[in-house]
Amino acid sequence: MYVTRVSAKSPLSRQTAAQLSRAAASFAQSHAVSTHTPGLHLTSLHIQPQQSQSRRPFSSTSRTKLREYFPEPETEQIVKTETAFEHPLYTDEQMTKNVYYAHRKPKDMSDRVALYLVRLLRWGTDLATGYSHDGPTPKDKLTGKSTAVVPSNKPYRMSERKWLIRFVFLESVAGVPGMVAGMLRHLHSLRRMKRDNGWIETLLEEAYNERMHLLTFLKMAEPGWFMRLMILGAQGVFFNSMFISYLISPRTCHRFTGYLEEEAVLTYTLAIQDLEAGKLPLWSDPKFRVPDMAARYWKMPEGNRTMRDLLLYIRADEAKHREVNHTFGNLKQTEDPNPFASVYKDPNQPHPGKGIEHLKPIGWERDEVV
Ligand SMILES: [Fe+2]
Ligand SMILES: [Fe+2]
Repeated sequence: MYVTRVSAKSPLSRQTAAQLSRAAASFAQSHAVSTHTPGLHLTSLHIQPQQSQSRRPFSSTSRTKLREYFPEPETEQIVKTETAFEHPLYTDEQMTKNVYYAHRKPKDMSDRVALYLVRLLRWGTDLATGYSHDGPTPKDKLTGKSTAVVPSNKPYRMSERKWLIRFVFLESVAGVPGMVAGMLRHLHSLRRMKRDNGWIETLLEEAYNERMHLLTFLKMAEPGWFMRLMILGAQGVFFNSMFISYLISPRTCHRFTGYLEEEAVLTYTLAIQDLEAGKLPLWSDPKFRVPDMAARYWKMPEGNRTMRDLLLYIRADEAKHREVNHTFGNLKQTEDPNPFASVYKDPNQPHPGKGIEHLKPIGWERDEVV
């Protein structure tokens, strides 16, 4: 119906025609595996086109399913737009050996406040995203203890769609702390006429990276009105709480983000575990391919572009945020330089950096880096 109506409105602009042809192609690819719920629509699971055959007449399809969620804008002059924050290269070995679930024990009152707030938030998110899990809970590699936060005695209820709901909701919240912290440190530097010592870029890069996680998942699932409403509410509350809290105690906020990232690592570890156990057949389908945008951003090698690979990259990013924020939580906020953007006197010792070759799950202590 949509195509017929537009084709009558000739001539089409080049951009509209290109968008329509992409939308139709996207529809043809995704229609056979699409589901429609108020919370989230699986727009495309990125199965190769030959697998999908639409059985319904074209005219009965809703308009939302026909459109690509965010097509690249087409202009007269521009070929492509480069990212300002180039992603560092991660190797497969680094992502599987250096990245694992671990928990930093709270050491003082500020740490405990941060931890309990994260636990509360997690409880709310589990409720909102309908999360429960019956797989074995990964053990903390540093202490050997298993984490008690995931209920493991319930019947299995997760699916590709439920994981995506959780990922989209979590990532829409996860992009907030880095931006608030970066913005407030920027304003602090302007207002107090003092240098920032290199923290702002790392914090903004974290926010950018979280947004890339969100956009990648949105290429696979388009949220419905209910999900949008929840995200809107969550952002309103979370941004303002973070803004006020960061003005009061930036150290507690970084610790809070560190604990939040521990939960993110756990979530992706469990999703990878499910995928490997064959519980998510649409994602372990050999014809599944990750969105092109993701392959470009993470520089995923050809042949390593499965959903498992994508989740490994994202989990490694979360582990990096965990390290950065736990480290920032150990530092003097206004005096210390950013250890992740520094050059060290002894280059032979392992030091914090942009990549994950020397990843410290509980962060670097102040005397190790400053
Ligand atoms: Fe993320
Ligand atoms: Fe993160």
